[in-house]
Amino acid sequence: KHQGVCRYPLGMSGGQIQDEDISASSQWSESTAARYGRLNFEEGDGAWCPEITVEPDSLKEFLQIDLRSLHFITLVGTQGRHAGGIGNEFAQMYKIKYSRDGSRWISWRNRQGKQVIEGNRNAYAIVLKDLEPPIIARFVRFMPVTDHSMNVCMRVELYGCEWLDGLVSYNAAAGEQMSLPAYSAYLNDSVYDGAVSHSMTEGLGQLTDGVCGLDDFTQSHDTHNVWPGYDYVGWTNESFSNVEIMFEFDRIRNFTTMKVHCNNMYSRHVKVFRQVVCYFRSEADWEATPLSFSPVEDVENPSARFVTVNLANHMASAIKCQFYFADAWMLFSEITFQSDTAMYNTTLAPPKSGLTPDTQPKDDPTHKVDDSNTRILIGCLVAIIFILVVIIVIILWRQVWQKMLEKASRRMLDDELTASLSIQSETFAYTHNQSSTTSEQESNSTYERIFPLGPDYQEPSRIICKLPEFAQSSEEPVQDGAPHYAEADIVNLQGVTGGNTYAIPALTMDLLSGKDVAVEEFPRKLLTFKEKLGEGQFGEVHLCEADGMQEFMNKEFLFDIPEDLPVLVAVKMLRSDANKNARNDFLKEIKIMSRLKDPNIIRLLAVCIYSDPLCMITEYMENGDLNQFLSRHEPEGQLALLSNAPTVSFNNLCYMAAQIASGMKYLSSLNFVHRDLATRNCLVGKNYTIKIADFGMSRNLYSGDYYRIQGRAVLPIRWMSWESILLGKFTTASDVWAFGVTLWEILNFCKEQPYSQLTDEQVIENTGEFFRDQKRQIYLPQPVLCPDSLYKIMLSCWRRNTKERPSFQEIHRALLEIQQG
Ligand SMILES: *[C@@H]1O[C@H](CO)[C@@H](O)[C@H](O)[C@H]1NC(C)=O
Ligand SMILES: *[C@@H]1O[C@H](CO)[C@@H](O)[C@H](O)[C@H]1NC(C)=O
Ligand SMILES: *[C@@H]1O[C@H](CO)[C@@H](O)[C@H](O)[C@H]1NC(C)=O
Repeated sequence: KHQGVCRYPLGMSGGQIQDEDISASSQWSESTAARYGRLNFEEGDGAWCPEITVEPDSLKEFLQIDLRSLHFITLVGTQGRHAGGIGNEFAQMYKIKYSRDGSRWISWRNRQGKQVIEGNRNAYAIVLKDLEPPIIARFVRFMPVTDHSMNVCMRVELYGCEWLDGLVSYNAAAGEQMSLPAYSAYLNDSVYDGAVSHSMTEGLGQLTDGVCGLDDFTQSHDTHNVWPGYDYVGWTNESFSNVEIMFEFDRIRNFTTMKVHCNNMYSRHVKVFRQVVCYFRSEADWEATPLSFSPVEDVENPSARFVTVNLANHMASAIKCQFYFADAWMLFSEITFQSDTAMYNTTLAPPKSGLTPDTQPKDDPTHKVDDSNTRILIGCLVAIIFILVVIIVIILWRQVWQKMLEKASRRMLDDELTASLSIQSETFAYTHNQSSTTSEQESNSTYERIFPLGPDYQEPSRIICKLPEFAQSSEEPVQDGAPHYAEADIVNLQGVTGGNTYAIPALTMDLLSGKDVAVEEFPRKLLTFKEKLGEGQFGEVHLCEADGMQEFMNKEFLFDIPEDLPVLVAVKMLRSDANKNARNDFLKEIKIMSRLKDPNIIRLLAVCIYSDPLCMITEYMENGDLNQFLSRHEPEGQLALLSNAPTVSFNNLCYMAAQIASGMKYLSSLNFVHRDLATRNCLVGKNYTIKIADFGMSRNLYSGDYYRIQGRAVLPIRWMSWESILLGKFTTASDVWAFGVTLWEILNFCKEQPYSQLTDEQVIENTGEFFRDQKRQIYLPQPVLCPDSLYKIMLSCWRRNTKERPSFQEIHRALLEIQQG
């Protein structure tokens, strides 16, 4: 689960990683110091370059990043030194070393044991590499490798997310070998990164790599070159009376649960453990009374499953669990821990001085800059700042001009608008792996003329470049289907948090904005900050308590809360330094939001616009978003009984889906297009009530659901219709498509990302298959819980022809029937 979702850039290109946290073995000059090793940055001389040429087999040079806390790293990106065409140095190959504590360094190897990673082929293109297995570390080193002596420069980025489990290592007896009739299954921990002899010590591995084993343990997700039993670590009762695993954590935590992913293939004498006894250690000593838990034995269902063990808020920095056999074998593929994360935030960043690894260059000659140089430097800086100011003024002027020109030309020169899309060089810098098609794309200009998209829609046309066949026959579908407003007069609001808010036709916009804002100003001092929900380019979303909100709410507004209690609200806040466009968009968003009145749409309650920062106060629902809500729940039945998880009935799933359809029915009746309908954007209240909101995109938690190109636009491609991805068309019909995906998520209890087995690139290829319609497109599979009648609704939402998709009225009616029948 981690791997699909956890692919967020960790801040080399975005700047969240500070200069002081980037170091290197050496530098060629001050202008190629470690801090210039940021992906997509062109500052200094354009990259980090070590002092001397890199020799084959000398692994002396490295670029090191300190992430300040443990992270789960799934992907790395590298780039050479381009420096506007002057540079031509890059690393053809590299290795990665990592460390959790800054002293013990581990060499990364892939699942086949290979250490060397293929790097760049030229100085400008970004090459991304999935880390299989992923890394859990605080420090990461990139070490260039060459086959002949050469100059090497690198820019890098890490992708992943914070490692909230806080697990630093687990120790256990080494996994064993199981003889099967025809062959053996090797149940050792094949990616363990600590020491392995009779037992495993001080490492992490298979149990934390985010890959859950399959029901049949002899099979594996990773089909190439792995042995039977690869995903599992297993032990037999012949060798042990019980299996003791010791878990060490980064600090004392308040533990809620442990989830153990166990195999249960009882036909091969493998079963979930019979009992587990856990001991806790917070300071020096182990607590005297252990906690014990026995799951219900299951000999009906052979599927692998997570068994949840309630750790009852024990405080500990180490946990020791003894697992008892229910049969001859016990096989685990993942173990995760849930602990109090609020506490986590407070101790996130360790003290700045602590733990700097002693590998930094001690005797750095470049620090001996004398006084006269300093003065020259300051002079230069002042000059540069002056020039920058002038450039900024010019750019601002140009933007104003462009806006005016665009307005005039939009009507006359609809198709010619695409000329603005021919921003070439960057478009092709994004090559996944060693895609060699870059040069063909560069020279082929026909792709750019076909799609009359506004300047906000650059990304879909880039995606099209990946589908060469698309260009040949694409004249026809551009015209078909959806109403025209989607292409031309659309008012596209970029929400404060960087997300799309509702996109609506300009016509409706005029109607809406005719009157004054119908919501009242709320006294800022009555808001009490509770938690940050999200953050984006232009602002933040906070969860707050509002005192006396009752007075501000209209009578028509049914909100069954007791008098005088503070109300939970979401507060969207514009940064006070946001530019004028962002401010205008924010005010427009307020106008639009204030007109939306439907029981299934989040309501705007009040605003603070008399002073900065501008705020929008909307409802918030106590159960959080639907995605998290369902992830915490299980379907009714055996499995839920086994793991004590709370459940949601099928009827209630239908009830929630019907409410989403009803809210969307309302939006579509106003010709509003949501553009980002998904469970993460629906909030859950009491008794399974649902309201649709729009701040999903701003949250790191869900960054894996969006496809990022060059850190610019982000698109929820797994929810998007083919025509939205390929043509940039967003209509009610594309919202219907997204609804189909949302329904699929609901029936899967959000346990899986849509198309989780496909990479982002494969999802886009699949979109091309939907367009070509030669029966090669892959549909999302029918969820286990989902009756045929519901799956039929989903399939109808994913029809190629937009006109054949059902309306939200029809969907709503059908869902009500299924719920009642
Ligand atoms: C696990 O077993 C396989 C198959 O025998 C072997 O190739 C591999 O080296 C072992 N790995 C470890 C870490 O012991
Ligand atoms: C652990 O967390 C729970 C729930 O957040 C809280 O009620 C409890 O007091 C915490 N325990 C300690 C020792 O802080
Ligand atoms: C291991 O478990 C099997 C099945 O429960 C049992 O028949 C066998 O006696 C056990 N072996 C040992 C050494 O306990």
